[in-house]
Amino acid sequence: MSSGTALVQIKYNDRVKVLLFGGSFDPPHLGHAALLKAAAGRLKPDRIFIIPAFQAPFKNTPRASAADRVRLIKKGLMPFLPRSWRRICRIEEYELRSRRRVYTIETVSKIRAKHPDWKLHFVVGSDAAAAWRTWRSPRKLIRLCRWWTALRPEIPAGRIPSHFQVLRRSIPAVSSTQLRRDLAAGRDTARRIHPRAAAYISRRGLYGTDIINALQKGLKGGRFAHTLAVRDLADALARRWGEDPGRACLAALLHDCGRIIPKSRQPAYVRTRGIAVPRRQDVIRHQPGLLHAYVGADLARRCFGCLDDGVLRAVERHTLAARRMSRLDTILYVADAASEDREHPEAPSLRRLAFKNLDAAFAACLAAKLRHAIGRGGWLHPLSLSLWNALCAKS
Ligand SMILES: [Fe+2]
Ligand SMILES: [Fe+2]
Repeated sequence: MSSGTALVQIKYNDRVKVLLFGGSFDPPHLGHAALLKAAAGRLKPDRIFIIPAFQAPFKNTPRASAADRVRLIKKGLMPFLPRSWRRICRIEEYELRSRRRVYTIETVSKIRAKHPDWKLHFVVGSDAAAAWRTWRSPRKLIRLCRWWTALRPEIPAGRIPSHFQVLRRSIPAVSSTQLRRDLAAGRDTARRIHPRAAAYISRRGLYGTDIINALQKGLKGGRFAHTLAVRDLADALARRWGEDPGRACLAALLHDCGRIIPKSRQPAYVRTRGIAVPRRQDVIRHQPGLLHAYVGADLARRCFGCLDDGVLRAVERHTLAARRMSRLDTILYVADAASEDREHPEAPSLRRLAFKNLDAAFAACLAAKLRHAIGRGGWLHPLSLSLWNALCAKS
């Protein structure tokens, strides 16, 4: 064999090794970065392609736009990689440009057709690997690529199909779904998401962070801290009583948004907007503090884009309540009356009761509010009295 032939032979055997990494990246997080780093560390690829899905099969439409997710990958995934890998890493936007649900087989077939000499490796999360039966054209996919995944505690190794090679690295159990919920609820996500991605999300108001930002800016004098305390209790009560925690958190976040409008301007606001407040004139005269719930429900729809009638109703009912309260209404009412930041002596026992008997906690909160109003010689709304009488008649 001549030396020239040997060189050609070496080049042929040394095929370009390409690592593919697909997903919704809505948003990208530390778990994605750890998986990609584990795969790249093991394979030492010549190129890395991150392939964001326009809409991943069997998943809901991503919350962030394609353009935002591309920027988030640049800010929230690539910076986790060493510089040498960043240089060989690019975002393959074929699926995004298609603007439709694209199956992996289509993307991989396209790459293979364009680069028949490439050696393709595909890395996916263990949840996607465990769902292999749902993938389209699985046999062809196995022929086209070598498949990699890493184990996560919640996916037992037995559920991973045998053609997957398992990376021996622990991957933090971060879920985009939970991350989105926590971003929307204003919870700390610093340990799960790159600071540059977090800053971008906040700046763009993605995943509901626009609501948090506006509330933080608009609620004065401890009201924002109170809102977060109500969110925590409403979230916990929703989980306890089988209500959707996402809706409970949203209702809790928005419950006092009416206070963004100064108290002195709330009577004019309800009049101008024609908002129905039971015994409106009496309320304006004797207890204008009640108005913020009605103002809040209106603002939540108009300015915060909340279209969930159940959430809006809960916001509206969090001060005066109503004869027929939904579970969400009750959770918000109790969470507002007994949140951790409340300093009245009954608050701790009301919180405990709420986890044992929600209806009893509601009645106890109503009683506490009535006692408080009487104690300071205040006016009692007839609705509150009739509600109390109705509860007494039931017991
Ligand atoms: Fe309130
Ligand atoms: Fe409140």
